[in-house]
Amino acid sequence: MCGIVGYVGPRQAVDVLLPGLSRLEYRGYDSAGVALVRSDSMDVIKTVGRMADLTGLVGKESPAPAHAGVGHTRWATHGAPNTVNAHPHLDDNGDIVVVHNGIIENWRALKSELAAKGHRFVSDTDTEVIANLLGEMSDLPLVEAVRQVMLRAEGALALAVMRRGEPDVIVGARRGSPLVVGRGDGENFLASDIPAFLEHTREMIVVDDDRVVEVRPDSVRVFDLEGNEIEPEHRKVEWDLEAAEKGGFPTFMLKEINEQPHAIADTLLGRVTGSGRVVLHELEVDEDVLRSIDKVFVVACGTSYHAAMMAKYAIERWTRLPVEIDIASEFRYRDPVLDDRSLVIGISQSGETIDTLAAVRYAKAQGALVIGVTNVVDSALARESDAVLYTRAGPEIGVAATKTFTTQLVAMQLLGLYLAQVRGAMDPARVEMLVGEMMRLPEQVQTAIASGAEIERLARVWGDVRDFFFLGRSGDFPVAMEGALKLKEIAYVRAEGYAAGEMKHGPIALIEKGVVVVGVATDSHVRAKTLSNMEEMKARGATIVLVAEEGDDVGDVADHVIRVPPGPDLICTVTAVVPLQLLAYHVATAKELDVDKPRNLAKTVTVE
Ligand code: F6R
Repeated sequence: MCGIVGYVGPRQAVDVLLPGLSRLEYRGYDSAGVALVRSDSMDVIKTVGRMADLTGLVGKESPAPAHAGVGHTRWATHGAPNTVNAHPHLDDNGDIVVVHNGIIENWRALKSELAAKGHRFVSDTDTEVIANLLGEMSDLPLVEAVRQVMLRAEGALALAVMRRGEPDVIVGARRGSPLVVGRGDGENFLASDIPAFLEHTREMIVVDDDRVVEVRPDSVRVFDLEGNEIEPEHRKVEWDLEAAEKGGFPTFMLKEINEQPHAIADTLLGRVTGSGRVVLHELEVDEDVLRSIDKVFVVACGTSYHAAMMAKYAIERWTRLPVEIDIASEFRYRDPVLDDRSLVIGISQSGETIDTLAAVRYAKAQGALVIGVTNVVDSALARESDAVLYTRAGPEIGVAATKTFTTQLVAMQLLGLYLAQVRGAMDPARVEMLVGEMMRLPEQVQTAIASGAEIERLARVWGDVRDFFFLGRSGDFPVAMEGALKLKEIAYVRAEGYAAGEMKHGPIALIEKGVVVVGVATDSHVRAKTLSNMEEMKARGATIVLVAEEGDDVGDVADHVIRVPPGPDLICTVTAVVPLQLLAYHVATAKELDVDKPRNLAKTVTVE
């Protein structure tokens, strides 16, 4: 994530940039900064912390008037959230100023090339590489230099760039990450999202992928990467500010469900090769150490624990290592057997959950290797683990985890395949096949999201249902557990998640007419058994809903079938959970509940 803003025109740039950035804080808030560009000087003011900290600092420094500038609010993906890593970034001559959202996949190669030419870097960011590449092209018009950089940079990115002494032009570029231009009268705006300029104009241009845009007070010109000028499509924003902050969605939760294809693509970015291998250089753990591991433990809470459940199946199946999973708050009290050949993986979207932190601290004290999987760069879990794998979901505002969960599933699948690869536990052709299937997930999740209207219709009918069961086996079991948790926490409906085969050992006594049973049957090697368990529920009067793969013949067991795109076992958990997120969402909104802030819950749980 991250939010970027640019302004050129007659106003004081800070008066546009600071409020604009505040409206983009939902995109990131670990550090922020602005660059103010004048014909004879330039100021860069940045700080770790939130927009309130930046606004205070700008007030204190009281910079000279400037009518152009760029700003940034950061959600760290590269380098810790601190003032040095905060944007804007300069090239080493201090002539180019860049704000950037996204990930430059080939930054290591570009950085080595620039370092060999004598360039110096002060931050840990990939953005500084862009600034220095641009600094090498001072003889070219800025728009041309940015076009050349876009041809070299790989990955998803949006940029806004200015040059010292050129206060009348901002150049933006986009591939993958969002970028829009706001058209004013004698002034123009550039931003990651519309709320940044909505109080000034409703006229806008959406910058398409692989386009470079030159923004001046009186003109906006768009070019493709061959340098041809393109006639942009002008649009009018119809949303009010509140709707715009939610991207036109009624709630953050629905927005975040819809952001999953992008978040999953970001989580995969740069971590798999074209030949289907998994590369996790960022772990920086000696491969011999990974080969010496003889047991794996995964610890987490709530939704993250459901990602741990999937991880157990994946790591055991792919590496043949034994895996135990623990609810983090239970782990250290059961006196687990750990030593220096144990790998403990802590999963926490916030990276601050005290139960999970206590579990990994305990594991470290016993000599285990600890890998943290988290969405927040430099969170306590990231700092205290021996190695970190980040999910790249961007900030999640809705209290119920959605995009952080599906990216945790993807991160754990990557980690499982990586361990299998390093330990030689899996045929490389099978790793390649599974990696190929994972690369299809963003598109498949998009397809699953499209089933929302049908689910909304079902949810309206079930407004008064008191009891839901969610059942699945193997990889479908964690999906069922997550479906039940989502419904409990945002719709306040009693919902039990169970292993489908366990129902006959007691809970089936609760099944009667009026109960809704949601079966998840996407894992092919247990699918037939799940379907017969659903027959048992149907025979006792339950309404049956089935999540099944497109094209799969599920007979007439279900009253309603929700289809998801087919995928290999375990990988397809990512797609299968989406209808259940939507089901919980629509049951809750049909009851007019505040899904973004469910009662009694907090986004980060820092008490035991
Ligand atoms: C449910 C939810 C919680 C969290 C749990 C752990 O939607 O969000 O169950 O999953 O509190 O939080 P993290 O992942 O931050 O450790």
